[in-house]
Amino acid sequence: MPPLELVRRISQPFSAEDAEQIRLAYSATGHDGVRRLEAGLAAVGRDWTDFSRLLDFGSGPGRILRWLEPLAGSLEQHGLDVDPALVAWASEHVTHATFTAGPHEPPTPYPDGHFNLVINHSVFTHLDERRQDLWLAELRRLTAPGGIVLLTVHGAARFNAAIAEMARAGEDVAPYRRTLERDGILFVEDDTYIGSSHPDWYHTAFHAPWYVFEHWHRFFGVRAYLPEGSQGHDLVVLERRGDGEPVPEPIGHAGGAAAEAPAPRVAGGPLAQARRLHENWPAPRGALGHVKRRVLAAALEREDRRAGALLDAVADLAARTAAQERRLGVLPASLYEQAQRIGLLRSDTEAALRRVEERLAALERRDDAQP
Ligand SMILES: C[S@@+](CC[C@H](N)C(=O)[O-])C[C@H]1O[C@@H](n2cnc3c(N)ncnc32)[C@H](O)[C@@H]1O
Repeated sequence: MPPLELVRRISQPFSAEDAEQIRLAYSATGHDGVRRLEAGLAAVGRDWTDFSRLLDFGSGPGRILRWLEPLAGSLEQHGLDVDPALVAWASEHVTHATFTAGPHEPPTPYPDGHFNLVINHSVFTHLDERRQDLWLAELRRLTAPGGIVLLTVHGAARFNAAIAEMARAGEDVAPYRRTLERDGILFVEDDTYIGSSHPDWYHTAFHAPWYVFEHWHRFFGVRAYLPEGSQGHDLVVLERRGDGEPVPEPIGHAGGAAAEAPAPRVAGGPLAQARRLHENWPAPRGALGHVKRRVLAAALEREDRRAGALLDAVADLAARTAAQERRLGVLPASLYEQAQRIGLLRSDTEAALRRVEERLAALERRDDAQP
């Protein structure tokens, strides 16, 4: 456990009375952080044994890396942080890993493609967009093709909690909400990090999922987006594509866990089958599950015998694609986000057009009025 003045450098401000609580949380959340990263890897069918060299980007005092010591025999571990005091403490106490004090902006000293796994908790939650892009490009350079990069962002959960607190304090939160909805990214400089031990560029960033899909896609394949996947932060699972490789299909876990169960096979005529399938199917979780339920419900409602053939086809499809369904999970989520985004852009554009038309009409009226 690092001394409390070092823990302060990686957490929100806390008072002396909370010290014991903070001590306990430091251990518990570090351990839990590892489980969360494992869940992120599992969402794309990977685990620690797939990797040989890991970088913890923004490793702090090694709060997470300390729990990975049992893997040190097969997984070379590195930590990078801009804070030399944290790097010094980690180097002395978390000895199975190598810690490096890094620059405020890239490049880092590591060669191209040096790592096949990058883990992270809470750095992109503190950088403005320009710095985020610089670091996304650098992490891409450091990661070997096929490697995985796990990054956390403040998503909806953290944003809602933050603005609820601000509203309670009497602040007008509407502008924050508008910026996040419009831009997909919000950087708040007027925050509690002013006057802290952090560099002056270290503040608070929030992300909308659609922004992550749309923008980060330029650097990596976005393979999964797990809301609140890492201690209240959203966890983003990225894959380093090969240079010039086509963009891979996104793979996510979003609600797909139940898709393992194959479609139950039942005998009887189409309607009897429909009824039995409807009763026996596990609760729908993935997108395909919902489609199946809808088809079944519609068939039962209309007593449509022709639906039998369709049901057979759907059941067959479901059985053959149970594994695929997990992969499809993230697709509806990202499409939904994109649809929201397109809706916003459209209403913005329409409003702008209306303003132009009004202005033109006013100019025409003035023109007509000229003698
Ligand atoms: C909220 S703390 C999280 C620390 C650690 N990941 C953990 O979960 O305990 C953010 C850490 O990122 C470091 N950091 C911020 N920007 C960085 C950058 N550009 N490069 C490396 N480290 C950075 C900070 O110094 C700090 O230690």
